[in-house]
Amino acid sequence: MRILSGIQPSGSLHLGNYFGMMRPALQLQDQGEALYFIADYHALTTTRHADILRKNIREVALDFLAAGLDPKKTIFFRQSEIPAIGELSWILATLAPMGLLERCHSYKDKIAKGLPSSLGLFSYPVLMAADILAYESDLVPVGKDQKQHVEVARDLAVKMNEAYGPLFKLPEPSICEEVASIPGLDGAKMSKSYGNTIGLFLDESALRQQVMSIKTDSSSLESPKSTENSVILELYAHVASPADYQTMKERFQSGGVGYGTFKKELFEAIWNYFLPMRERRSQLLNNLDYVESTLAQGAERANAIAHALLEKVRSAVGLR
Ligand code: TYM
Repeated sequence: MRILSGIQPSGSLHLGNYFGMMRPALQLQDQGEALYFIADYHALTTTRHADILRKNIREVALDFLAAGLDPKKTIFFRQSEIPAIGELSWILATLAPMGLLERCHSYKDKIAKGLPSSLGLFSYPVLMAADILAYESDLVPVGKDQKQHVEVARDLAVKMNEAYGPLFKLPEPSICEEVASIPGLDGAKMSKSYGNTIGLFLDESALRQQVMSIKTDSSSLESPKSTENSVILELYAHVASPADYQTMKERFQSGGVGYGTFKKELFEAIWNYFLPMRERRSQLLNNLDYVESTLAQGAERANAIAHALLEKVRSAVGLR
C-alpha cells in the first residue's frame, strides 16, 4: 500500500496540522510505503517573498522530522524537486471540468477571505491531484478540509482512465474522525488564515500566552462549565491521558474551578506532550546538512516513481 500526503510551508505549523494530519500520517509509516512532501508549489499561491518561503520550507522540514518522520521508512521530499508534477498537472488540467473546480470550497473560502484570485489558486486541486496520482497513492491522510480535493483527484483519475485506458489508481482519503477538524482559539477550525492557531514549537511564554487567550464563555468560577464544544477540553483530549481528560471533564461539570486554571493545565499538557519533539528539533537545527541530504535522497526516490508514471501517461495521451 502506498500512502501519500503533503503540507504547505505557509508559516509555523500548528496543532491542527499536527493532530489532523501529521500524527495520523506518522502512525501510517509502518503500514506501507509512505511518501510525505513539502507542498512548496502550492505555497506559492499565497507567499510572495522568496526568503520567507525558503525559511518556511526549512521550518516544515525540521518540524516534520522532529515530529517523528523516519526517513528510513518514509520518502520525504520537496514537491518542487519533482518536475513530473508540473507536466502531469497540465495534462490533468486539460480534462478537468471547470464546474468541478468551481465547486471547491477551499478556493471559495480563500477568495471570501480576501485572497487575490489567480489561476494558480483556482487550479490548486489539479496540482494536488497530480501529487496524489503521480505516485499511484492508495491512501491520502488529510484533515477534513482536504477531503474534497482528494475526491477531485479521484474524479480526474476516473476521467483519464475513461479517456486513455487504465492509467491511474483511485486514491482514498484517510481521515481520523476525532481529529478531522481541530478547533482554534475562537472555536472555529484552527487555521493560519483565521489567525486562531496554537503553534507547534513555540517557546514557553508564547505558548502560554496563546493558550491563555482561548475564548471562553462568561460562566463564573463557581458555576459548572459546559463540556459541549469546549476548545480547552477538546485540545486537552489530544494531549492528556484518558484518565486526566476524564478528571478535567468532571471538574468542568462540578464547578468551583475557573477557566484560567483549566487553561494552565492545558498549557502544561501541551508543553509536556511536545517536549521530546522540541528536543529533537533543536538537535536537528544543529544538523541542517542531515535535513538537506534527507530531502535530496527523498527527491531522488520520489522522482523515480513519478517519472515512470509520467512516461506511461505521455505514451497513453500521444506525446510519445
Ligand atoms: P495544509 O498545508 O493546509 O494542511 C496540512 C494538513 O493539515 C490538515 N489541517 C487540519 N486538520 C485538522 N484540523 C485543522 N484545524 C487543520 N488544519 C490543517 C489539513 O487538512 C492537511 O491535511 N493542499 C494541502 C497540501 C497538499 C496535499 C497534496 C495534501 C498538496 N498536495 C497531496 C495531500 C495530498 C494543504 O494545503 O494542506
